[in-house]
Amino acid sequence: MLASLLVNLGLVTLAASPISALAFPGAVGFGSIATGGTGGTSYVVTNLNDSGSGSFRDAVSESNRIITFAVSGYIVLESAVSLSSDLTINGTTAPSPGIGVMAGEVSASDQSNIIIVGMRFRQGSDDPDTGKSAFNMGDAANVILDHCSFAYGQWDTVDAVGAVNITLSNSIIAFPIYQQFGAHVETGPATYFGNLWVSAHNRQPLAKSNTQYINNVIYNYQAAYTTADTSGSFYHDIINNYFITGPSTSSASDRYYQIQSNQYAYASGNYGDATNDGVLNGAQENEIGSATVLSSPWSSTSTSMVKWTAAEAVTNVLASAGALPHDQVDALAITQVQSYGTQGELYGDQSDTGLSNGGYGTL
Ligand SMILES: *[C@@H]1O[C@H](CO)[C@@H](O)[C@H](O)[C@H]1NC(C)=O
Ligand SMILES: *[C@@H]1O[C@H](CO)[C@@H](O)[C@H](O)[C@H]1NC(C)=O
Ligand SMILES: *[C@@H]1O[C@H](CO)[C@@H](O)[C@H](O)[C@H]1NC(C)=O
Repeated sequence: MLASLLVNLGLVTLAASPISALAFPGAVGFGSIATGGTGGTSYVVTNLNDSGSGSFRDAVSESNRIITFAVSGYIVLESAVSLSSDLTINGTTAPSPGIGVMAGEVSASDQSNIIIVGMRFRQGSDDPDTGKSAFNMGDAANVILDHCSFAYGQWDTVDAVGAVNITLSNSIIAFPIYQQFGAHVETGPATYFGNLWVSAHNRQPLAKSNTQYINNVIYNYQAAYTTADTSGSFYHDIINNYFITGPSTSSASDRYYQIQSNQYAYASGNYGDATNDGVLNGAQENEIGSATVLSSPWSSTSTSMVKWTAAEAVTNVLASAGALPHDQVDALAITQVQSYGTQGELYGDQSDTGLSNGGYGTL
C-alpha cells in the first residue's frame, strides 16, 4: 500500500528499493539493522542498585524490552551484567546528568539485536576481574552503540571477537587501563563512525574484520588503526578521520599499524597532525601501512555515510560524541584533545586522572 502510494506520487526509485527499518533516525552502518526491544514491553530502571526489582541488572534479564531510566548517577556493579537479546537500552532518558555503570563489565556476548544509546561504561580497576572489558559483545550479532562513553577498560575497552553486524558510533572510547586497548573486533562486518578515541596503547581498533572507519578522531595514540599482522584478509574503508599525536605518541606513523598487503584498504581524506604544537594543523595521510590499495570503497554504504571532512569531524566529534551532557571523565578527555599535542597520558588506573570518586568522576 505504501509502495503503491509512493509510485502514485512519482517516488518510484524509493518505492522500488526495500524499505528497511533503522535502529533509530540517523543510525549508520552494519548495526543499524538492529530493532532492539521495539514492539516489546517497557521497563523503567528506578534505582541504582546492583540487583533486585527496578535495577539495571533486572531490566536486562529478559528480552523484548525497551529500557528507560528514572534515575541518574553511577550503578556500581558487583559483578558483570549479562544482557538478553532484543533490547533497547536508552540512557538518554535518564534525568541529567545521565546514567552510567562502573566497576564491572556489561556483556552482550552471544546475544543479538541490541540498541544502546546514551550509556556510560566505566569498568576501571574496581572490577577485580582483569580478564574483562568495559563492554563485551563476543559472538553477538546486530548491535549498535551510539552516543555512549567508555573508559577505563581493563582487557579491551570494547571486546567484540566473533561479533557480526556491529556499529559503534558517536561515542567516546577513552583512557583504557592495564592493556590500554580500545576495541577488538573479529568476524564483523563492523562500522565505526564519528567516535573520539583518546590515549590508548593500541587497538583503536584492532580490525580483524571488514570495516568501515569514518569521521573518527584519534588522540594521543601509540598505535591506532591496526590489523595486528593478521593472516586473515579483510577490507577497510578508512575515510576522513583525524589522527592527532600527543605526549604518549612515540611514532606518529603508527596511526596505521601492522597492516600487511593481505589487507585491502580504501583510504581518502584522512589527516595526521604529528606536531604536538597546540594547534590542529595536520596533513593528508592516506597510506594504510602495506595494504593493497582499493580505488573505491568496498562497502556500498561508506560514501553516503561520510558527514564531515576530517577537520570538521574534530569540531563535531568533540562537541557531541559520547553520552550527553559530558561528565567529568569525558570533559577531561576532550580538554586533553583540545591541547592538540601538549596534554594527555596513558593511565594505569582511573585514580591517576585525579578526578573525584576515585577517578570515576561524579555523575
Ligand atoms: C536498593 O538497595 C537499598 C540499599 O541496599 C535497599 O534499601 C533497597 O530496598 C533496594 N531497593 C530495591 C527496590 O530493592
Ligand atoms: C531515547 O529516548 C529519547 C528521549 O526520550 C528519545 O528521543 C530517543 O528517540 C530514544 N532513542 C531510542 C533509540 O529509543
Ligand atoms: C547481518 O546483516 C545482514 C544484512 O546486512 C543480514 O543479511 C545477516 O543475516 C546479518 N547477520 C546476522 C548473523 O544476523
